[in-house]
Amino acid sequence: MSELKKIRDEFILKLNGKLDLIELNQIKSDLFGKNGLISSQFKKIATIDISERKKFASHLNVIKDELQDKINLKINEIQNTSINEKLKKEKIDVTLPERSFVRGKIHPVSQTIDEISSIFSEIGFSVEEGPDVENEYNNFTALNTPDNHPARDMHDTFYLDDKRERLLRTHTSPVQIRTMLKDKPPFKIIAPGRTYRSDSDQTHSPMFHQVEGLHIDKNINMGHLKGCLNYFIKEFFEVKKIKMRFRPSHFPFTEPSAEVDIGYEVKDGKIIIGEGDQWLEILGCGMVHPNVLKNVKVDPTKFQGYAFGIGIDRLAMLKYGINDLRAFFDCDYRWLNHFGFDPLDVPTNYRGLSR
Ligand code: PHE
Repeated sequence: MSELKKIRDEFILKLNGKLDLIELNQIKSDLFGKNGLISSQFKKIATIDISERKKFASHLNVIKDELQDKINLKINEIQNTSINEKLKKEKIDVTLPERSFVRGKIHPVSQTIDEISSIFSEIGFSVEEGPDVENEYNNFTALNTPDNHPARDMHDTFYLDDKRERLLRTHTSPVQIRTMLKDKPPFKIIAPGRTYRSDSDQTHSPMFHQVEGLHIDKNINMGHLKGCLNYFIKEFFEVKKIKMRFRPSHFPFTEPSAEVDIGYEVKDGKIIIGEGDQWLEILGCGMVHPNVLKNVKVDPTKFQGYAFGIGIDRLAMLKYGINDLRAFFDCDYRWLNHFGFDPLDVPTNYRGLSR
């Protein structure tokens, strides 16, 4: 028997047996690898006597094809069986009940913060953040609040240690300090976030939200403050005209200081902003006190500007007609489902009306 025939018969016999993929690949390399049995026969062609060469080569090709076809067929068979087995196991039971699916809602406070940030960023304010746990210096001292100021009283402030060095920030104003300490003027920022005071009734929650505003530059005056707040309130409430009132007030960190009320009326149980003769206080503001600027190494003879602190929860209540502040933070999903915003369908028209 010729050597070729021997190789063929031996491997056909092997290939008729039960083989797995690894064994098949091994056979493949035994035959057709670099020094495989068939590959070596091909190398031999050149050494064969010219009279025999043609016959040998054609015989070799036939055997090569036969073996190759057989191997490929086997590999295909194995792959098909494994796919079929997998499919059998993955059968979907369409009679099973579906898994329950709940789509979350965006809390009205988060929605309001997004709206506020978007309005202010359009007029050049960037957004800063500060921690809820503050030190006494940033929350009070640097803001020109003397040791005996009533705001420092245990009654209002949640202190976190006996020495009264760490506390839950009572307003977002410490972010003014943090911002000015880490950079050089000019500053034009807003800082939304959580704030805390020991207070709880229908219109006060011990945790509430404020957005701080700060604009410091060389020629900033109270007119800029008024213009900026006027613009913001109109954009926020989507009205063309508003009634706004500056009432003299006092904050240790601004001079002069004011509180701002907006005019509204209630018509058919609905609050209408910009009309009527009722007033609602929504923010405190003023020109940043020179002592505050000195505390953060900004020269008050060169730079000045305004600051404001707006109560976010109140704005949300007004805009979305929610009348009990405490419900905001009860974590009642039924409430959130009713007042919350669909994440895929948030109102986008709040920018449009005043244009
Ligand atoms: N921080 C003040 C408050 O919580 C508000 C305010 C901010 C007033 C900035 C003036 C300037 O009441």
